[in-house]
Amino acid sequence: MNTHAAKLPNRSFWHRAAAVLTAWLKAPSQVASVCPSSRWLLRAVADRECVRQAKTIVDLGPGTGGTSAALLAQAGGDCRLLAIEKTAEFIHSLRAIDDPRLDVELGDAAEMERLLLVHGMTAPDVVVSGIPFSSLPADTARQIMKAVHRNLADGGTLIAYQLRGDVANYAAEFFGPPETVQWVWPNLPPLRIYTWRKSDSAASTTTDHS
Ligand SMILES: C[S@@+](CC[C@H](N)C(=O)[O-])C[C@H]1O[C@@H](n2cnc3c(N)ncnc32)[C@H](O)[C@@H]1O
Repeated sequence: MNTHAAKLPNRSFWHRAAAVLTAWLKAPSQVASVCPSSRWLLRAVADRECVRQAKTIVDLGPGTGGTSAALLAQAGGDCRLLAIEKTAEFIHSLRAIDDPRLDVELGDAAEMERLLLVHGMTAPDVVVSGIPFSSLPADTARQIMKAVHRNLADGGTLIAYQLRGDVANYAAEFFGPPETVQWVWPNLPPLRIYTWRKSDSAASTTTDHS
């Protein structure tokens, strides 16, 4: 763990859970979860060599900031993390994370190319996604996955945590089958963590007809 470990602002899990529940009541299919991810899920997502080695990380759907803080706690001192969140209610929580390596954007995951440019960031080595692919219209889900694949550095890793398996179907077109799939049972609800690696060959052989 690096010496710049980011801390979530002084808000308890239950305080953040209340914010998530309130936002979920307004937009259930967008927020997709009634409470923030557990520490078990956060550890399983962030405690990885690819995160420790990354120079640029994108956190898609960071919610109240649990994933961003967990990633920053593992990432190196010279890493930059761009958190892109669509739900306006979570932005205050995210911006309260006091860490110079973090940039927060209220926006859509599909815009990641433009947002990386705005922040002068290089192609991410790691993209972490909590985007609820199962509840998105198919065309939107495909556009987001296409943007993730196009922007990820060659050799980069996509880490997606999901309840349902639709994300794997969308990823298959661009990345092929997942490299790993791991259930995190103590999370509420239990989630799967999928990982894919963008290989040079996958990048050059993927045909995109859109
Ligand atoms: C399952 S929650 C994950 C929240 C948080 N990372 C956690 O682990 O507790 C999914 C998040 O994705 C956000 N989201 C949904 N669609 C999005 C999109 N198209 N672009 C960016 N964020 C999106 C939701 O607002 C929500 O915060």
